[in-house]
Amino acid sequence: MSRKRTVVLISGRGSNMTALIAAAADPSYPAEIVGVISDRANAAGLGIAQSRGIATKVIQRADHPSKDAYDAAIDAALTGFGADIVALAGYMRILGRGLVEKWQGRMVNIHPALLPAFKGLDTHARALRAGVRIHGCSVHFVTPEMDDGPIIAQAAVPVMVGDNEDTLAARVLKVEHRLYPLALGLVAEGKARMEKGHTVLAHFADDADNATSMVMAPDPLREESDLEQLARITP
Ligand code: GRF
Repeated sequence: MSRKRTVVLISGRGSNMTALIAAAADPSYPAEIVGVISDRANAAGLGIAQSRGIATKVIQRADHPSKDAYDAAIDAALTGFGADIVALAGYMRILGRGLVEKWQGRMVNIHPALLPAFKGLDTHARALRAGVRIHGCSVHFVTPEMDDGPIIAQAAVPVMVGDNEDTLAARVLKVEHRLYPLALGLVAEGKARMEKGHTVLAHFADDADNATSMVMAPDPLREESDLEQLARITP
């Protein structure tokens, strides 16, 4: 099996990137992380990638005369890395239509909400304001419209009584780190493909496999709640 060469794009702390690097440390994982690109020279994730022996590149918008020139530099770097797949992980820029269309079906992103709810920024604060009882994260194929591409996999967590933005973000982030390696693995293996604007998922050998692979809902009873609290918030 040839592992899919994957480049991760980051802007900051890089905890999802770290989770992907950790998954890819297993030689049987279908993707290998061959490079990390950041649009910010001070992104903490760059140091983490370097300490894992992964090549890094900083490509800043301010160093390019136009958005098109910036996108072209990203594209050239991806080609330079010999990328098969691009994984956006906390990359805070919107890539141009031309670049996204070129990589469509081979570019994925993780978003900290259960899409199509709460596209954009401040998802946890907005989820709390909306009063949703279930929140989570999504991995999706990237299309030119922000946070709009076909969903590959999602993970849900409960919103607990007394949550604030930070506690909720931390609970979601924990499942992001499990979901992203799972979803990238599906894409790298060809078990999740984008066709005509939709995600096509391979048929799984049995239903149990299918259920655990596609929807992850960490057991709130075991993880961080007690039965009484769950009973109070669950209709
Ligand atoms: C994550 O919550 C991710 O879903 C969002 O940005 C955050 C990045 O965190 N797109 P990190 O850099 O992976 O730690």
